[in-house]
Amino acid sequence: MAARAQLKPAARVAGRRQDVWSIVNEAAAASPKQPIVNMGQGFFGYNPPEFIINAAKAALDQVDCNQYSPTRGRPRLKKAIADSYSPLWGRKLDPETEVTITTGANEGMLSAFMGFIEEGDEVIIFEPFFDQYISNIEMPGGKIVYVPLHPPPNGDKQGTSAADWTIDFAELEAAITSKTKMIVINTPHNPIGKVFSKDELLKIGELCVKNSIIILSDEVYDRLYYVPFTRMATLSPEIERLTLTVGSAGKNFYATGWRVGWLIGPPHLIQYVAAAHTRICYSSVSPLQEAAAIGFEQADQENFWEGAKKEMKGKMDQFNTIWKELDLPFSDPDGGYFVLVNMAKVKVPADYPFPNQVKDRPRDFKLCWFLIQEVGVAAIPPTEFYTDQNAHIGEDWLRFAVCKEDEVLDRAKERLRDLKKYIES
Ligand SMILES: Cc1ncc(COP(=O)(O)O)c(C=O)c1O
Repeated sequence: MAARAQLKPAARVAGRRQDVWSIVNEAAAASPKQPIVNMGQGFFGYNPPEFIINAAKAALDQVDCNQYSPTRGRPRLKKAIADSYSPLWGRKLDPETEVTITTGANEGMLSAFMGFIEEGDEVIIFEPFFDQYISNIEMPGGKIVYVPLHPPPNGDKQGTSAADWTIDFAELEAAITSKTKMIVINTPHNPIGKVFSKDELLKIGELCVKNSIIILSDEVYDRLYYVPFTRMATLSPEIERLTLTVGSAGKNFYATGWRVGWLIGPPHLIQYVAAAHTRICYSSVSPLQEAAAIGFEQADQENFWEGAKKEMKGKMDQFNTIWKELDLPFSDPDGGYFVLVNMAKVKVPADYPFPNQVKDRPRDFKLCWFLIQEVGVAAIPPTEFYTDQNAHIGEDWLRFAVCKEDEVLDRAKERLRDLKKYIES
């Protein structure tokens, strides 16, 4: 008995439900429709551009690139990021004190929470949320306070825009208490594709200034926006003082496996993020930091940012023609590479056999399973990004990632035509 107690895992990892990624992957493996067209997880179906791949290969030949980097990141990458973002900030960023490199955006955010959150501190996040925030906030003992993004009221009947998902500012204000230490913003948003308007960000920022709340602005999709994009940190010096902006080389350069990210912020915040990062993983992958630096240095001359945006918007629009064909409403994204589609009109047969891991989950898990089995296309059930209490808001939607080769998108559309017979007109 004693031995068993010693082997007991910590509550922070025990007792979690099977995660959405393994449910979807298992369903995909068991589907009779092979090979599955996987539009679930947000990884790219193609490589970074050649100038970046070549930079990564060349870095491996450099002796120092195969050894530890400084804990706050390689000077060349910090400088390349400061140079690339200074014009967007409207002032010169200091690479030594205002930028710190992390092992992906994810570990960067964990470092921010570890650097500032103590047991019982409250962190506000909007629902739906990127799922990693939850465990990352809970690990240092933070308490999460959820504020919903309200979906378009007619989103099940007609096409809507990601901008129609709205904040009720009275609800946001009511969520703030004397224990609120941080708020997490995500723009462009996963899974909605919402680009927060300047007005929305200003209102959030002013509430944070009034209540001295640190703003963690997750902007990992910051180069993929299809409407004007405002960066939280640029709104006013008072807001900037409180803002940590998160970025990701994985998302920027089509290389989610590289695990290179960063935070930009004022020195009085960045130093503690860097201190936590040093204790969590010491420093981040050296050769891929070097490659990311070269990516930033050459992006403008390669017209990479404009090209990336145009290409992704093209994929988005090309793929979404299928929903018009099927007469299923979708929420047209203003940024990023995810689209939410409303499946309220899809009628799953009442006696359809669902396995245990799906049958007690909300309707979107069943829709996801059904699509994988009957159509051969994998998507993500967005209630994974909601608390149980608010899961009903997301249960008629599915999230599709369009960062795939054009042929894959065409194949997905071909398969999705098989849904027609299940759609109520
Ligand atoms: C909103 C959001 N933030 C952060 C991340 C993680 O980024 P990284 O791969 O750089 O850790 C993701 C990845 O899907 C994301 O969607």
